[in-house]
Amino acid sequence: MNDADILNELIATAKTNFSQSATPADLENAKAQFLGKSGRITEFMKGMAQLSVEEKKSRGAAVNLAKQAIETALNERRQALAKAELEKQLKAEALDVTLPGCQRVQGGLHPVSLTLERIEDIFGSMGFDVAQGPEIETDWFNFTALNTPEDHPARSMHDTFYVEGGTENAPNLLRTHTSPMQIRYAVQHVKKHRALIDAGGRMPEIRVIAPGRTYRVDSDATHSPMFHQCEGLWIGENVSFKDLKYVFTYFCRTFFESNDLVLRFRPSFFPFTEPSAEIDIQFQSGPLSGQWLEVAGSGQVHPNVVRNMGLDPEKYIGFAFGMGPDRLTMLRYGVNDLRLFFDGDIRFLSQFQS
Ligand code: DAH
Repeated sequence: MNDADILNELIATAKTNFSQSATPADLENAKAQFLGKSGRITEFMKGMAQLSVEEKKSRGAAVNLAKQAIETALNERRQALAKAELEKQLKAEALDVTLPGCQRVQGGLHPVSLTLERIEDIFGSMGFDVAQGPEIETDWFNFTALNTPEDHPARSMHDTFYVEGGTENAPNLLRTHTSPMQIRYAVQHVKKHRALIDAGGRMPEIRVIAPGRTYRVDSDATHSPMFHQCEGLWIGENVSFKDLKYVFTYFCRTFFESNDLVLRFRPSFFPFTEPSAEIDIQFQSGPLSGQWLEVAGSGQVHPNVVRNMGLDPEKYIGFAFGMGPDRLTMLRYGVNDLRLFFDGDIRFLSQFQS
């Protein structure tokens, strides 16, 4: 075999070996067999020592060409292996950019909270303060101070949740209505203006609403053991039923955005008001048009209650009302089952977000 054949055979074998190398490590091993220190090309060149200069020249050129051909084949295989490796990696770590992204859903206020905000805004615009009070109450604030002594039959109107550990003056029940806030707020107000009141001055009027959670042992489509109420109280020297009618009509018309809505006062009984009335409203258009719908209890604050506020009932007079924000929300949005508000079902709640 002449030199050219030997070298061609070497190139062919190298190419085959390279292409059979499946990994970069295999390829480097294969390279060593041809181009390494004791590789076949190196061996081939060692045999050139005794040759003439002319022969060295031509043979050397041939060897260099073979070497270059082998190196080219090596580099090509290196690149092919690197490319295959990259493709494998890309495939394994593939991201499907067409998948929907993870969105952060925008939260919103609960429909009853929206109603409470509305109530606060409307009464706030009429100069009413907004007060918050404890949900665990004492017998005194929840009943006794509101002219409902222990043996009063009106106490049976409330199915009360009592809590353990109560003493006569300690909290021992979950408030059954927001009316205790009438006393709590008025007592603070009177305390603040005591000196003025005692001096016969004109006390700034008490004008407050008190929204919040209330509790009764009750559960069906229109009653929940936890529900909301909003109390209203306006006490001054010359506040009458006429004012109540004006204020409540304005409230209802604004709340329901219905200027032709009408009100009716239906005689009723509450221990803390005398006279007392239920307030009914009637829409003149829309799905509820023509029906009388009860929305609040109300009345002129009973003299005993005025006294428990620390005021002289001969001088101070006013009205109170208590309404159900849950029911107002049901009427406003046409919801017929109260329990939906408290189930926490996002499909229901998300319908109220604007
Ligand atoms: N507290 C009453 C209830 O829960 C509602 C009520 C009626 C509140 C008349 C009042 C009122 O302030 O004057 O049934």
